[in-house]
Amino acid sequence: MKYRHAFHAGNFADVMKHVALTAVLQRLTEKERPLFVLDTHAGRALYEIGGASEAGRGIHRLASATPAAASPAIARYLEIVRSFNAGSAAIETYPGSPLIAATLLRAQDRAAYCELAPAEADALRHEFRRDARIGVHCRDGFEALRALLPPSEKRGLALIDPPYEEQEQDLAQVADALVAAASRWPQGVLMAWYPIKQGVVAARLHRRLLDAGVQRLLVAELCIHPDDSRAGLNGSGLVTINPPWQFDRDLRQAMPWLHGLLAEGGAGRTRVALLAEE
Ligand SMILES: C[S@@+](CC[C@H](N)C(=O)[O-])C[C@H]1O[C@@H](n2cnc3c(N)ncnc32)[C@H](O)[C@@H]1O
Repeated sequence: MKYRHAFHAGNFADVMKHVALTAVLQRLTEKERPLFVLDTHAGRALYEIGGASEAGRGIHRLASATPAAASPAIARYLEIVRSFNAGSAAIETYPGSPLIAATLLRAQDRAAYCELAPAEADALRHEFRRDARIGVHCRDGFEALRALLPPSEKRGLALIDPPYEEQEQDLAQVADALVAAASRWPQGVLMAWYPIKQGVVAARLHRRLLDAGVQRLLVAELCIHPDDSRAGLNGSGLVTINPPWQFDRDLRQAMPWLHGLLAEGGAGRTRVALLAEE
């Protein structure tokens, strides 16, 4: 494993993914009943991004905009990021998915965070050492999906966010993991991130899920370059099985605004589509 998320923390893909994570947890916490959150590829939780170039076209650009009116999810996400930079106007510390989720979870909720790289898992464990709601596991996230679902809470979210070092192989593994998790936990909200790059056929992920009989599939994509550009990462994609009520509306509100802010000269596109409905 060569991947280190610290190089990418706070980039446009993180902003897109973490706005969606904020929105989905805002929706899920509208009901009092307890939730379980499983983050299968959690990373180290907190990143120092002072001079990081990728954040320049991500959280740093968002921080100098005024998103309050843009969407409640974007405003809440920025408030959470700012809370880890208290006393400083500049964003130098960036919270990853485990901290964003932990901020939104309530006393009655529970989470399991998995990370395979020992140094990252140690940092994660240290971060949550005083939070009794959170269990940190240094283990394979795909194996944890099989072992930890369905949770006793019945309600909740699994976030699958692997590094995609082997792109096509990882897309297939994510599709298989989602299908298996959906059959084991039919009520669970299952969300997976995927890259949009030249030569990576993300549509195959959607096709595999639909062919496997997934009933409610929400696709959200934010591209800041044309799909076939050689720029590297052209776009950020998320599939959500069992999206909560009005989560699609939240994304339809947030994604065009983020695109206007993060894409140069209007390049790229956004897409929010419900591919299959009950
Ligand atoms: C894209 S990063 C996660 C970012 C994080 N979810 C966030 O949004 O802040 C992927 C992480 O998965 C870890 N990883 C790689 N293979 C793994 C596996 N099989 N199981 C669990 N974690 C893994 C990497 O070390 C890396 O920290």
